[in-house]
Amino acid sequence: MWRAHATGEYSHFAEGIPNFNIRCVFYTDENGNLEVQTRVPGNYSIPTDGSSGQFLKWIDHHAYRPVHLHLLLKKLENGDKLVTQIYFKDDSYLDN
Ligand SMILES: [Fe+2]
Repeated sequence: MWRAHATGEYSHFAEGIPNFNIRCVFYTDENGNLEVQTRVPGNYSIPTDGSSGQFLKWIDHHAYRPVHLHLLLKKLENGDKLVTQIYFKDDSYLDN
């Protein structure tokens, strides 16, 4: 699991944040259960200086992502990976 800081910045991308900060590996119990407590991350803007930014300007749309947690799930023995995200209900950017 990895997520942005409350300011919307990620380790490996923002200066002053140690590498692998808020990037964790968890293991489920024998029944596949897992419980994690974390803080709600911040919103952030995708880069607006490339083709994505040009497209957003063309459709007159902001560049902010809804608050989310990133997850990479994998069964230990030869399992396929699933990369997904969890979003938070009532986030102001969730519907757009
Ligand atoms: Fe993200």
